[in-house]
Amino acid sequence: QTGYVTLDSGYKNTGATKSAITFLDGEEGILRYRGYPIEQLAERSNFLEVAYLLIYGSLPTQTELDNFAHQITTHTLVHEDVRKIFDGFPSAAHPMGILSSLICSLTAFYPKSLDPNQSPEETNLNIIRLIAKISTIAAWSYKNSVGHPLNYPRNDLDYCSNFLYMMFAFPTEKYEINPVVVSALNKLLILHADHEQNCSTSTVRLVGSANASLYGSVSAGVNALWGPLHGGANQEVMEMLEAIQQDGGNTQKWVDKAKDKNDSFRLMGFGHRVYKNFDPRAKIIKKAADDVLKALGIDDPLLKIAQELEQAALTDPYFVERKLYPNVDFYSGIIYRAIGIPTEMFTVLFAMGRLPGWIAQWKEMRENKEPIGRPRQIYTGELERDYVGIEQR
Ligand code: SDX
Repeated sequence: QTGYVTLDSGYKNTGATKSAITFLDGEEGILRYRGYPIEQLAERSNFLEVAYLLIYGSLPTQTELDNFAHQITTHTLVHEDVRKIFDGFPSAAHPMGILSSLICSLTAFYPKSLDPNQSPEETNLNIIRLIAKISTIAAWSYKNSVGHPLNYPRNDLDYCSNFLYMMFAFPTEKYEINPVVVSALNKLLILHADHEQNCSTSTVRLVGSANASLYGSVSAGVNALWGPLHGGANQEVMEMLEAIQQDGGNTQKWVDKAKDKNDSFRLMGFGHRVYKNFDPRAKIIKKAADDVLKALGIDDPLLKIAQELEQAALTDPYFVERKLYPNVDFYSGIIYRAIGIPTEMFTVLFAMGRLPGWIAQWKEMRENKEPIGRPRQIYTGELERDYVGIEQR
């Protein structure tokens, strides 16, 4: 082995890049997008404004925001060949699998996106196309899973309302937009929009560092996010809460199960690589869950189980010693469920929220002309040995 490498499995102590996009302080539980505290953005901004902020670095003027939103609205249609692909997907196809494959397929319709020397105008057009079309592809992946007719996007609706319309409208009846649901979705997408060098964002950067297209890089990020230890955790949290409910609601029993080293079960939605304090997003989502359920007049027993589980874990030495707190995924499923999002779509909503962050990080990596990512290793295999013919084996 020539030279020395420092082994850092999981990159726990490795700075992979320099970035001006998102600031995290894990000890203090601080999260800021381009310097703006997440608490203020969640309360006062909207998803497309936050997307603009992350990607272009500053809050847009009204004109800039209107133009950005108008461009996105007028790019939500996908090529009819993409719609025809849905005819080939089995209804059992997981929406995350459809999302990653169809996002990658966009390179077929926009071949200039493959050009690493593309103009900034071409890059911006691909960014608009991706933010616009992910909502259509995501909603259609759900409709495909339940065998309902696809709803084409509408240009008279804002981004979140249009997504909800495409998800839940039926050609046989009028679809009513519920402002409480739209506001809850906006807030959730803002809270998921970026999180510095997490697993899926690092994947987008690594794939993009090979001069892969934005579509190909984001498609790789979707697959990383799908992992149950990462974005897939929100779906796992809901399944865990339902299992605890079916098991009679004995939360302490499940906390003890999560502590048992002979049991692979982990308390999903708990713990974080960076936050060794409350995940600031979890605090906001926990309050929003209360507000949304009250506004919709829903009494969800799973919220009570989640609150009891949180209390049991936060007072248990095993969790306290390891600084394990609820993360972004712990309460988000309660809100998704309250606004009618089916469990298998939870991680898709995470991907839709994280898309502006992936785009911003890919763009920053490309603008900084960062080298192709290629880590080294500590070799632990066989020393040199000679080939043996099969007759001697
Ligand atoms: C996201 O990186 C990001 O920013 C991610 C994210 C984003 O916005 O992009 O925030 C989104 O992915 C949130 C995390 C969602 N995942 C889960 O909720 C799954 C459950 N949590 C864990 O598996 C775990 O906490 C991780 C994956 C989140 C973090 O893992 P680490 O940092 O590698 O920590 P670890 O696995 O080394 O755990 C340290 C100790 C271990 O015990 P010991 O070996 O010290 O005895 O804590 C234990 C772990 O067994 N532990 C848990 C636990 N999480 C950690 N024990 C029980 N239940 C848990 N949830």
